[in-house]
Amino acid sequence: MHSLKTMLSGLLLLSLFVIDSFANKAPCWSTKDTPFPKARRVDKTWTYRSAKAHGNVTFPDPYFWLEQPYTTTKEVQEFAADQQALTEKYMSKCTNAESITQSIKDAFDYNSYFDITFLDNAINPFYFFSLQRIGESRKTYYIATPEEMEAGRKTNFANPPGHKYFDEGALSVNGTASIQTYQFSTNGLYLAYLVIDADADVGTWYVRKTTSPFLKYSKTPGGDGRLPEAVPRGDGHIMWRSDNAGFYYVQVNDPEGGTNTDIGSVLRYHKLGTAYEKDVLLVHADPSQDSFYSIVESLDGKWLVLVNSKGAGQTSIYATRPLEQTLSDKMKWISIVPTQEDDLTAITTIGDDLYVQSDHDAPNYKTVKYKMDWSKARVVNKLQDLNDNVDPVDVIPARKDALLNFAVPFDNDKVVYVMTENGKYTLYLYSLLTGKLIQQVLPNETFTAHEVIYADSGSKNIVLAYWGPYSPRKCVQITWDGTKVVDKTFFIETVKGTKPGDFMTEELEATSKDGTKVPYYAVHHKDTKRDGTAPAMMHFYATYGDVENLFWYPMHYSFMNSYNAVLVYAGARGGGDKGADWHIAGEGMRKQNTFDDLIAVAQDLVKRKIAAPGKVVPEGVSAGGLNAAVIARQAPPNTFGAVLSDLPPLDWFLIDRSRAGSSQYEDFGNPHNATEFDVIRSWSPLQNIDATEQKVYPPILVTASDSDQRVVIAHALKFTAQLQFSYPNSPNPLLMHIAKSAGHSDVGNNQDTAIIKNFHQECFVQLALGLTKYR
Ligand SMILES: *[C@@H]1O[C@H](CO)[C@@H](O)[C@H](O)[C@H]1NC(C)=O
Ligand SMILES: *[C@@H]1O[C@H](CO)[C@@H](O)[C@H](O)[C@H]1NC(C)=O
Ligand SMILES: *[C@@H]1O[C@H](CO)[C@@H](O)[C@H](O)[C@H]1NC(C)=O
Ligand SMILES: *[C@@H]1O[C@H](CO)[C@@H](O)[C@H](O)[C@H]1NC(C)=O
Repeated sequence: MHSLKTMLSGLLLLSLFVIDSFANKAPCWSTKDTPFPKARRVDKTWTYRSAKAHGNVTFPDPYFWLEQPYTTTKEVQEFAADQQALTEKYMSKCTNAESITQSIKDAFDYNSYFDITFLDNAINPFYFFSLQRIGESRKTYYIATPEEMEAGRKTNFANPPGHKYFDEGALSVNGTASIQTYQFSTNGLYLAYLVIDADADVGTWYVRKTTSPFLKYSKTPGGDGRLPEAVPRGDGHIMWRSDNAGFYYVQVNDPEGGTNTDIGSVLRYHKLGTAYEKDVLLVHADPSQDSFYSIVESLDGKWLVLVNSKGAGQTSIYATRPLEQTLSDKMKWISIVPTQEDDLTAITTIGDDLYVQSDHDAPNYKTVKYKMDWSKARVVNKLQDLNDNVDPVDVIPARKDALLNFAVPFDNDKVVYVMTENGKYTLYLYSLLTGKLIQQVLPNETFTAHEVIYADSGSKNIVLAYWGPYSPRKCVQITWDGTKVVDKTFFIETVKGTKPGDFMTEELEATSKDGTKVPYYAVHHKDTKRDGTAPAMMHFYATYGDVENLFWYPMHYSFMNSYNAVLVYAGARGGGDKGADWHIAGEGMRKQNTFDDLIAVAQDLVKRKIAAPGKVVPEGVSAGGLNAAVIARQAPPNTFGAVLSDLPPLDWFLIDRSRAGSSQYEDFGNPHNATEFDVIRSWSPLQNIDATEQKVYPPILVTASDSDQRVVIAHALKFTAQLQFSYPNSPNPLLMHIAKSAGHSDVGNNQDTAIIKNFHQECFVQLALGLTKYR
């Protein structure tokens, strides 16, 4: 079983004139009562080459000292503590803090069902899924019969159907062990599961019978009641052999016997019921050691396809026929794509045809097929010695305005396309034999695909998990009934006090500065009037070609529901909303397009009376937080009522001195290139704070994590220090909140930490906009 998942993966307003009565002024705020903390300034400067200046330019970095490591530098901690104290003082004006916290807690309180899989080709077909409830740190896995699932459906899954099969929490005393991935044998009798400790990438494969549950902690690694064998150093790639006799797996190639994932991988075979030591090595590591294997097997077991990928999606493909040969590293193989030039993903095989998702001359991806010719097979010392090339035949052409995210094989000879189109995930069913579109799989709606789970390429059933702005989970099964796809909803998860049916979604477009139409979504309660009085929270990411639309985020929901607010998702350029070109149109030298698009959406909301003037709140996380900070300064006066910039990189010249570093150049430009420097200098939030501009920044809350490795807290600290120094009498709060012992991901963080941060964000917006809680 393959489990394919996609995580479909937070400013300042300027007034062009002197501070006056037109500039918005936040209630409950005065720098007389609560002056900004003072921070030391140093003489540090930086020099960069500038094309525009025809030479070098130098700019000051007075808060450079805040880049010292937070955890070990007392002065930095003291500055942060002063900021937190100021923020808490402002928050203490929230008269309904408890009710805000409760509403956020309610939004975290739901049954998180995952990995729902229908093993419809098993001897006794069954469902497998996991459930994690609020307060539980680990998942429990369940097995259910089709009848039990049907019964569960009638109660909207109030209780999990079937029986408990595996308690992940029982794997270790302290709950640090977990199941990274798993696969059932084709007959459904065995489960191979990869146990990892503390979020490691590499772990140990264990096998147990489907009839042998594990629910109570035991000292045995992998849990009591399993088969005796333990297969170490698996990286998660596995394929059960079609005869259920064992499985092929990819192992990290660490010659020290360790778990280093950086030096390539090997392919091995494990025979069920034998010791690991007897496992057979099938393919040695790529001598270049920077290339990694994955595998696909045909349903009948005749073909085993090995995909060898380098970092940036440069892929080669080989194939063998394992059932006709003695398994060893001396087997015959053929090469299909020997060179590593394109990004290729094997989808499935039909007969001797291998179907592949390819970006060759198709940045939005197409499906091609390769004829596998066994007569060319030979034994070589290493697969890289094979150099026969097979010409691909186009099967399903790429679409210009839609990106193929992944392709899921279905009913042997069909494929379900999961595409990004106009800022949402859409699903289409194609015939692999003819390349023709059969149908759109589900009607467009306000949910975004979150997981697409299929048991094997012969499966007539796929289970889709969706999330949406007003439901944390919706689960639908699609089935091929012989002539068409039929669908059945298992459940729609709700949170306290509301029904998904209470909300509505509009799909709209704004016109950006250069005339480009920018897609966006507006979601709100049915009772919310479109009379230009509603507050609106505008979320976006608009970077790296990603799409962050129509997803579940407790603070968004709590805000929308509590204040009769509108939740907006803006699909600005830089994201992947309209495919690869949309991303390219908002990166590097063209980054300004992202900011123009976001400002255009905010203005369009007011023009259409969806949002009240001055009550749009841009909110973004990480790169989205950077975008929020930039538009805060660039937008015309009173465009925004408050700005939430979460985990943001705000000094783009610092990014280069911290971890993520040069990998970001493509999306944001390279500061060491004189031409790109000028563009970065024009938007980088820290460097563009200019007291002489006489701007009024809108209320801004920057939220950062003290242990963030990806975007160090120095970004937030330096930005806040500079902003407060430049605008000591700001009519609006310019504050930051620091999450303790937290990193860059809310998922990895403690839920309580996330609840506290969400509280600060919601409370800040309520105060800044002068809102009254509605529900
Ligand atoms: C200009 O700045 C670059 C980058 O900091 C530096 O390498 C170079 O020496 C400088 N040139 C002059 C003339 O100062
Ligand atoms: C959890 O327990 C395991 C096994 O006893 C141990 O190796 C590990 O260090 C523990 N981790 C923590 C965070 O306590
Ligand atoms: C679904 O949305 C896409 C993209 O906006 C659009 O092209 C398509 O026509 C829609 N389909 C239906 C059935 O409304
Ligand atoms: C600098 O950036 C510009 C714009 O992206 C690009 O055209 C040029 O090739 C770059 N120069 C170097 C030396 O990389």
